[in-house]
Amino acid sequence: MIDPFGRKVSYLRVSVTDRCDLRCVYCMAEDMHFLPKADILSLEELERLCGAFVRSGVRKLRLTGGEPLVRRNIMSLITNLGRLVKSGELDELTLTTNATQLAKHADGLAAAGVKRLNVSLDSLDPAKFEAITRWGKLDQVLDGIMAAKAAGLAVKINTVALKGGNEDEHEHLVEWCGRHGFDLTFIETMPMGDIHSDRTEQYLPLSLVRSRLEQRFTLSEIDYRTGGPARYVRVAETGGRIGFITPMTHNFCETCNRVRVTCTGTLYMCLGQEDAADLRTPLRASEGDQLLEAAIAEAISRKPKGHDFIIDRDSRPAVSRHMSVTGG
Ligand code: GTP
Ligand code: 5AD
Ligand code: SF4
Repeated sequence: MIDPFGRKVSYLRVSVTDRCDLRCVYCMAEDMHFLPKADILSLEELERLCGAFVRSGVRKLRLTGGEPLVRRNIMSLITNLGRLVKSGELDELTLTTNATQLAKHADGLAAAGVKRLNVSLDSLDPAKFEAITRWGKLDQVLDGIMAAKAAGLAVKINTVALKGGNEDEHEHLVEWCGRHGFDLTFIETMPMGDIHSDRTEQYLPLSLVRSRLEQRFTLSEIDYRTGGPARYVRVAETGGRIGFITPMTHNFCETCNRVRVTCTGTLYMCLGQEDAADLRTPLRASEGDQLLEAAIAEAISRKPKGHDFIIDRDSRPAVSRHMSVTGG
């Protein structure tokens, strides 16, 4: 799949549910309205959808949410998709999770062929963690992360840089991740959906985060790539790797290789644009996948150049949907 700007699309992010057991302040409003249950694709339909993308050229599949592990019977989908890794049709099957349910699923994920997980963790302080997630319990998440480590899964921690929210903890996160052998990526908050608060009050440019870290650590550029948007550096003092995901200050759209599909079968060709394609109709129109594969090809042929995110006191969110609809 090659888009109009010559970019090869090989990474699919599938949001298996828009629901979540947490309500991170930068991600969701407290009174979220979720997609109607009647519109949600079955696990069998999601598997067919993934199969069509793999036949079209996808090599990396990431399940996201909301929180993917709160979807009932999700392990059956993961086990079936894992066969595509074992047969060599996919290079990687992975997840982005908040880890609340990870302790009970870590071994099953490893058995299914998952090698690496990304875990959202914005604070190592129980009170702050609870404030950011609105009610999350840090211990439960740490148990999940340690279960993943014990199961042999590589872990990347995702930390959204939050002004006043966790900026005093970034050094500690770098040390903690270094000690446990976890990669760590810092992320700039993106203006997606109405969260009933002013994003300028949360937003922290990663140029500032990096220069503060450089007062304490020696960071050197490395050539490590995952196919995701982070640019990584090595931390001499810990031996660990940290990455910066900078949609706001250093746009990475030029090398974009990904699209995302929601649990209702809507394909978004860019995280920061409203333009979408309905895949549920062709999926349900026939038992064969020809119509579906044609709809995917048509959508890729109009993948936009990039996002128009800006964070400014008077601006509305760049897109009306929340991050939890597409899982980032
Ligand atoms: P790796 O495979 O480990 O590189 O994962 P990843 O960084 O691709 O995925 P993850 O789910 O951990 O996403 C981390 C952050 O990157 C999230 O905040 C995503 O929203 C953001 N992100 C991923 N892809 C895009 C993209 O195409 N555009 C923008 N603006 N942000 C993205
Ligand atoms: N901006 C940036 N990152 C976000 N995430 C959720 N909402 C936002 C936002 N508005 C992060 C989560 C998770 C990843 C998929 O996206 O913390 O780690
Ligand atoms: Fe849930 Fe992740 Fe959104 Fe937090 S960032 S509310 S854990 S989907």
